[in-house]
Amino acid sequence: MLPTTSWNIGNQRSDITNQDSATYDREVFRMTARLTIAIDGPAGSGKSTVARRVAAMLGYLYLDSGAMYRAVALKTLERKIALQDDERLVTLAAESHIELKAPTAEQEAVGLKNRVFLDGREVTQEIRTGEVAQAASRLATIAGVREVLVAEQRRARQGGGVVMEGRDIGTVVFPNAELKIFLEASPETRAERRWKEHQEKGESLTLLEVLQEVRERDERDRERKVSPLVRAKDAVLIDNTAMGIEETARLIVFLANERVPSAP
Ligand code: CDP
Ligand code: CDP
Repeated sequence: MLPTTSWNIGNQRSDITNQDSATYDREVFRMTARLTIAIDGPAGSGKSTVARRVAAMLGYLYLDSGAMYRAVALKTLERKIALQDDERLVTLAAESHIELKAPTAEQEAVGLKNRVFLDGREVTQEIRTGEVAQAASRLATIAGVREVLVAEQRRARQGGGVVMEGRDIGTVVFPNAELKIFLEASPETRAERRWKEHQEKGESLTLLEVLQEVRERDERDRERKVSPLVRAKDAVLIDNTAMGIEETARLIVFLANERVPSAP
């Protein structure tokens, strides 16, 4: 179905020929198409940074599904609930109210991509620790917790025009997404990227410690029974070990343009 507005805008232009008008309509249609873009990949592969940039380029909503797992993990740690207590953790997830919002200019300047609110309290910074990341990846193995968060993620999509990143977006959350990307980078590069972030925050972790954390989490994410981290059959694999953020984002926008259905 074509969005009516794009054709209305096109039809209002009286200063163009019929052929120009058709081209213009097609261009407006491309710009107003509300695709769903799914980006999955391991820790530190660049998902959040690249997804945020793609969303900004297309005027889409950016959603970080990992932040939702991290928010529930933070609550679990704060309440000292055992990470083996599946039943309580599912209830905790179902009772949690998680909101993702666009960052302020100051937050964006220090690399934050989504503001995260847990039960009305901002936890944007608190969820970015290694301890929370590890707890999130343990919680993420519980089917009931995933069910609750996946339902929230599907709701957040609204009418499309969204870039969502995580581990199971192309395989489980949005299996019909128009564009699926599986973002990769070598483990050493991913760990180094994360280590630099820790350095910038003044945290004194060694590169080896970060590499171990990333490896351990990747292994758990890839090997869990429910919704493991795998590349969807129809996902485009992009290894950005030697690619910059802008270059990777532009490639995804190019692929998104190719996925826009053609206007009749
Ligand atoms: O979300 P994910 O864990 O996949 O990675 P990220 O948080 O987006 O990226 C980790 C770090 O790598 C960030 O500091 C990015 O700026 C950086 N990065 C990079 O240097 N080059 C890329 N091509 C992608 C990300
Ligand atoms: O930023 P980084 O890539 O290190 O992790 P994240 O995207 O914030 O996700 C934290 C953890 O949540 C991951 O290690 C996964 O275990 C889990 N997760 C998941 O299982 N499914 C998702 N769609 C997103 C995150």
